[in-house]
Amino acid sequence: MGRRVLVLGGGGREHALGLRLAESDSVDRVESAPGNPGLADLGPIHDVDPTDGEAVSALAAQRGIDLVVVGPEAPLVAGVADVLAQRDVPVFGPSAAAARLEGSKAFAREMMAEADAPSAGYVSTSNRAEAHEALDRFGSPYVVKADGLAAGKGVRVCHDLAAAREAVDDALVRRVFGDAGANLVIEEFLDGPERSVFGVCDGTDVTLLAPARDYKRAEDGDAGPNTGGMGAYGPVEGFGLGDAEVQGLAGSVFRPVLQVMADRGMPFRGLLYAGLAVTDRGPRLIEFNVRFGDPETQVVLPRLASDLGDLLWASATGSLADVVVDWHDDAFVTVVLASGGYPGDYQAGVPIRGVDAADARDDAHVVHAGTARTDDRLVTAGGRVLDVVGRGADVDAARAAAYAAADEISFDGLYRRSDIAAAT
Ligand code: AMP
Ligand code: GLY
Repeated sequence: MGRRVLVLGGGGREHALGLRLAESDSVDRVESAPGNPGLADLGPIHDVDPTDGEAVSALAAQRGIDLVVVGPEAPLVAGVADVLAQRDVPVFGPSAAAARLEGSKAFAREMMAEADAPSAGYVSTSNRAEAHEALDRFGSPYVVKADGLAAGKGVRVCHDLAAAREAVDDALVRRVFGDAGANLVIEEFLDGPERSVFGVCDGTDVTLLAPARDYKRAEDGDAGPNTGGMGAYGPVEGFGLGDAEVQGLAGSVFRPVLQVMADRGMPFRGLLYAGLAVTDRGPRLIEFNVRFGDPETQVVLPRLASDLGDLLWASATGSLADVVVDWHDDAFVTVVLASGGYPGDYQAGVPIRGVDAADARDDAHVVHAGTARTDDRLVTAGGRVLDVVGRGADVDAARAAAYAAADEISFDGLYRRSDIAAAT
């Protein structure tokens, strides 16, 4: 008999996880909390707050759940994995202590430095004069980061010193990020294309997944404000991050960091996301996240030929050494369909048309990111609404498939980039 899996979260990443889990031979049922209309097609969805460890534990017990898969960072930082572990419920995702690799940029830099992992020079400080001094030392472009979680808005990259000093004062003096900005990390600018590499970890071992490229800026040509991600593709070729270099990261980044975390009594289990800049001195770490990337997951997981349920189970139970992962040759591209105004203010509750037609295409499928069903109608319920995923023999074919399917879908105010995976 297969396992019963509970997915926590309700965005595109969680629907993408749910889709592959539902296809896994090792998995019998996929339930979710709070889920979304896409996840509701896979199994029961539960109106339970994913950051409430007690409520999640009670739900897992009531539903006979064998494995909880945590999608977003908020439940991890809140310690939901700790509560589940205390109740002996296997969980894919790190403890609150280990989730600080994402929750505190200063902590992450400290662990990178201790593991001797290639990254940027940095200064961590809550003192304004020291911060200004660090800016002078590193020079332009200046990188100023709030230590804590600041809803994706805590990082400023500035070209002139006055703006960089303003960024310091915003955080330390005007406290625009509250406590999340009470400490700052000032770092050396890393020049080069960015790539995301995901490692499934079990405390000591790591299995690296195929890398993907994310598009963080809102507008074509990488202009406009930062977003959660407007599209992604894989496989990624070139830029000095081919298969050999990616596997090299297991030895230069992932294993040393796992060792340091274990030595400190906070072994890392779950997904360790390395955000890298591929510089002319090789790949350098920009940041860690402690969960799958969104929307990168939407193009990484469809390429996985192995059983996702077994892989996540191995992470949760410390048995990764026994797992081998295989990949399909196909390429995947995802285009995010966003609400007009995102990442700023936008309207919700707008009716969506054409999802079934897009989903019925042979070479595409639709992932729900921010949707809701009201009176049996599908409506928008978030900034990023849908992720249309195209499949092809190469990235160009997958891109054509994704945009052709995206053309089937419409809602008032729909906004998307037109250059995802173009000129790769
Ligand atoms: P983070 O939240 O740390 O990923 O930072 C958000 C974005 O800021 C990254 O995706 C990069 O584009 C940029 N960034 C952060 N740190 C650096 C750095 N040291 N050098 C260059 N760009 C950076
Ligand atoms: N797409 C970037 C992230 O998930 O953090």
